Order: sequence, then structure tokens, then C-alpha cells
Amino acid sequence: MEKYVINGGRKLSGKLRVSSAKNSVLPMLAGAILTDERVVIKDCPKILDVFSMIKILNVLGVKTEFCGNDLVVDSKNINDYVISASLGKELRSSIFMMGALLSRMKRAELSHPGGCDIGARPVDIHLNALKELGVIILEENGEIKCYAEKMRGRVIHFNFPSVGATENVMLASVLAEGKTEIHNPAKEPEIVDLMNFLNSMGGKVYGAGTSTILIEGVKKLSGTTYTPIPDRIEAGTFLLSAVITGGEIELSNCNAKNIWSLIHKLCDNTCKVTIKNDIIYVKSGNERKSFSFSTGPFPYFSTDLQAQTMALLSVSKGESQVTENIFEFRYRHVDELIKMGADIKVKGRTAYIKGVERLNGAQVLAEDLRGGASLVLAGLNASGTTVVENVRHIKRGYTEMDEKLRFLGADIKTIYD
Ligand code: UD1
Repeated sequence: MEKYVINGGRKLSGKLRVSSAKNSVLPMLAGAILTDERVVIKDCPKILDVFSMIKILNVLGVKTEFCGNDLVVDSKNINDYVISASLGKELRSSIFMMGALLSRMKRAELSHPGGCDIGARPVDIHLNALKELGVIILEENGEIKCYAEKMRGRVIHFNFPSVGATENVMLASVLAEGKTEIHNPAKEPEIVDLMNFLNSMGGKVYGAGTSTILIEGVKKLSGTTYTPIPDRIEAGTFLLSAVITGGEIELSNCNAKNIWSLIHKLCDNTCKVTIKNDIIYVKSGNERKSFSFSTGPFPYFSTDLQAQTMALLSVSKGESQVTENIFEFRYRHVDELIKMGADIKVKGRTAYIKGVERLNGAQVLAEDLRGGASLVLAGLNASGTTVVENVRHIKRGYTEMDEKLRFLGADIKTIYD
């Protein structure tokens, strides 16, 4: 098992370039099978979730190859539509393959998807929307079998702006017959990125990022070479890593407007934040101050930054409240932070945090991706040594987090046992 060993207390400083967004790349990899021409994803992050998605594509007969940092996908010889339970469980994004496979192969079979264990994570919104497009769906023993001779555009209303369901419907309807409208879709920047990606292949998708997405089905899509947007969650995590150590860093390849909600709160925490073009510079204030926030769909505070921000609040003077509105059990990091000396009480969906002076090193367990990242941040602040176990969760979404932190001056190493 891979572990991070962190000796806390070093102020981080320096410059870092942010990677491409995991949550953009994953649906794009599904979208890459919508054409038999080559698709190149520039600057594709080499994270475990991407490798899981590649494994799925390869099993279906799709060729993939990294040329440096660019991933080339060639689905000319795709010959299967079944994603085994063991593969699908590795990665929740296998669900996107449903819409894309239906477009390309008319069929898709997969088991209920995996991913982080942070709530029930049903897929009813995905399935209901696909049914609207004319897909016949059979669910038995956790298996989902779908078939559609022809998908037809429809007006679809979401009762919740699910990110994955919005992407699935975009992938299913871009080659469907007629027009599809998605009302109340997710507005996340990665949805806009998927629209731009599909349009670069010849798709006709409009309105992503607003409250209605319009998709005019086209007959054929072509290959593309596309650079995904920067990863706003990686950017936020590194900004927080600087602040929790009292340091200062400069991040390039950022889009500050995609993490306004965090930047705003860092200013409340007495940090100085400067934004110029694609660069965000953050300098910690003399004293960290408490603040409160609630997670919500974009543009509200991202649930994917909740855990890392909670690590900062654990050592920010005063009392803070965090309310998690997206996932039911996204507090698995709390007990681990408490082991490190944090004062946090959870009641229902809200965590009440009383800031302590400093955390102390401990042996802690990463139980999900972002929760794992929060423990790394806590370890950077803590006195003594912190051992974060189960680093594979962190590697699902961060490229060489340990190396990047070392580059910024952290004392962190990876050990295997
Ligand atoms: C995506 C992101 C994830 C992020 C989340 C919310 C990817 C690969 N993952 O996940 O990092 O945390 O958005 O911003 O992009 N729900 C249902 N029924 C459904 C679908 C969702 O009830 O059919 C519920 C979920 O259980 C959850 C909430 O809606 O409570 C949000 O889920 P959703 O927006 O779909 O998130 P994901 O696409 O899974």
C-alpha cells in the first residue's frame, strides 16, 4: 500500500502549473468514441481515473496512446458495448459511456457505477433522461442494459442539475435525430468545456453554462485535437495548501472565475489574492480567520473543495460552519482530522468547527479522493509526522501531488509497504 509521510510545518512557496481538469477529461474520453476519427486530448492528466477510463476504452476495442502528455484515442475498431462490473466499479465516470455507447453501438451494458463512497449516488436522473430519448432500459441485479435503435431529441427537465446526467444526455443526443433541450442542467465549467469539445468535432450544442442547453443532432462527428480547461479543484487545493502553511504561491494555467467562491473566502481568511490573466497568486495573512460556507451546484462553493477547505478552517481562529448540500456522507475526513487534533462536530449536513492553533501529526486514512487531499493539507500544517494511508484515492484525481508539494518546499515522501 502506498502512503504519504509528511513532516509538517514548512511554509510553501513557489510557482506551479495547474493540470487539465479531470472532470472535463473523463466525459471527453467517452465522447471520443462518437467518431471513428482520431481524437487528441492535449495535456491529459496522468491520474488513476484517466487510466481506469483508458482501460474501459481498451476493453471495448478502442486504441489509446499517450504521445508525451497528449492522449490519442482511436475508436475506429470499437467492437463491444459491455463494461464489466469490476471495471465499472473502479470509476463512476463509466456511466458516461452509456450515452456515448448508445450513440455509437446502439447498446450499452454496465453495472451500477463506482467512484468515491460519499453518498448513495443513484443514477435515476441519467436513466430517466435516456428513456426520454427513446432508450429501452432493463435493470436487474445491479446491471443496467440499454438499447436504442434510434435516439430522438426531446425536451428534458432535470429535477436536480446533475453534472454526470447533463454530460450523459449531451453525449447521447449530439448524434440523435432532431433537437434536444435540457432544462435545469448543471452549469459547471466542465459542462461548457464538453460543449466546446463536441462542437470542435462538428456537434451543434448551445447554451452550456446557462439554464437551458440546446443540442441539434448531427449525422456525423469528426476527429479533433482539444485542450481541456485547467483543473479548478487542483488549483483550489494548492491555494489552500499554501494558506494552511502560512506560505505564498503563484499558480499558472488557472481560470480564477471558476473558483471565485473559494477565492472570496480566502480573502475573508485575511489572504492577499492577486489575479492576472491565467495566474493566481496567494499570500497568507498574518492570522487565519474562520469563515462559513455551504456547498452547492456551480457557481456556489464546490463540494469537491469542501474537505480541503475544512482542513484550513480546523486551524483558523474562531468558529466556522460548513454545510454539505450535494452528497450525503461527504464527511469521512472529519474523524481523521479529529485524530490530528481538530475540533469538529457534525450534526446532519452541517459541520461545526472550532479552530485550533495547530494540528498534530497522526496516522490517518484517506477514504475518498478529496477527503484524502484534505488530510495531506492537514499534515502540511501539523507538528510532527503525519502518515496518510490509502494514497491511491488521492492519485485518482491529482497528478504527482507529492512531487508538486515537494517542489513548493513541503517535506513529503511516498513509501510503499
Ligand atoms: C460530478 C463530479 C464530482 C462532483 C459532482 C458534483 C465528475 C467525474 N465528477 O459527479 O467530482 O463532486 O459532480 O459537483 O465530473 N444524483 C441523483 N441521481 C442521479 C445523479 C445524481 O440523485 O441520477 C445526486 C447524487 O447522488 C448527488 C448529487 O445528485 O447527491 C450530485 O451528483 P452529480 O451532479 O450527478 O455528480 P457526479 O456527476 O456524480
